[in-house]
Amino acid sequence: MEKPISKKDQLYEGKAKVIFSTDTEGVNIMYFKDDATAFNAEKKGTIENKGVINNKISSAMFRYLEGKGVKTHFVEELSEREMAVKEVEIIPVEVIVRNITAGSISKRLGIDEGIELSSPILEYCYKDDDLGDPFINDYIIRVMGYATQAELDIMESVALKVNDLMKEFFDERGIILVDYKLEFGRYKGEVLLADEITPDGCRLWDKVTREKLDKDRFRRDLGNIEEAYEKVLNKVIK
Ligand code: TYD
Repeated sequence: MEKPISKKDQLYEGKAKVIFSTDTEGVNIMYFKDDATAFNAEKKGTIENKGVINNKISSAMFRYLEGKGVKTHFVEELSEREMAVKEVEIIPVEVIVRNITAGSISKRLGIDEGIELSSPILEYCYKDDDLGDPFINDYIIRVMGYATQAELDIMESVALKVNDLMKEFFDERGIILVDYKLEFGRYKGEVLLADEITPDGCRLWDKVTREKLDKDRFRRDLGNIEEAYEKVLNKVIK
């Protein structure tokens, strides 16, 4: 029998998660907290039970994507708030995928939210909290050495494949996948989908009512945040 994965030292504490080393080579533990932040951590709060819900949603999404041939850092769901993941080196580029206008693109371009795009838009941000995750492009990524062209090619094609898969997945469950953020990591010469896929980093709208089922409820003080996250979980694991 395989040795169970056991937690060792805390390596890093982020805004919504804590990463621990383990005694299994190449495996870390990701612990999901209830803490929530928005607007580059200017707004802080907690969403009761969010860590438990997000661990379940993210595990289900990674399992689904792995089943469709997407390589991810997911190893296994260990407990209510813990997931075992491969110990990747995070590529400092956030990949944002948009299907419908919302949030920063609406602000930046002066266009309404809720407009369906004729094809997905990919955007890149440099992952740096002190700088507020600035908008960057492929030239900046290559020249500054954040990722190689080969890595960028993988990130782009995986992001588009994940988009097709996730759009269909949510559509079948009565949810519109508006936009979301992906992160990737390097592991033994491969580029793996990493971080989390949860309503913290996705905009998800109810297909019928267009009710927001994501972190915009926290950002915009819309209330019923936990209920919205739970609704997503129940549809995801249906
Ligand atoms: P975006 O509209 O660019 O930013 P904001 O959330 O500030 O309006 O966000 C697009 C999607 O990506 C949205 O679902 C939130 C997610 N996202 C993150 O999770 N983290 C980030 O650092 C950024 C920039 C976006």
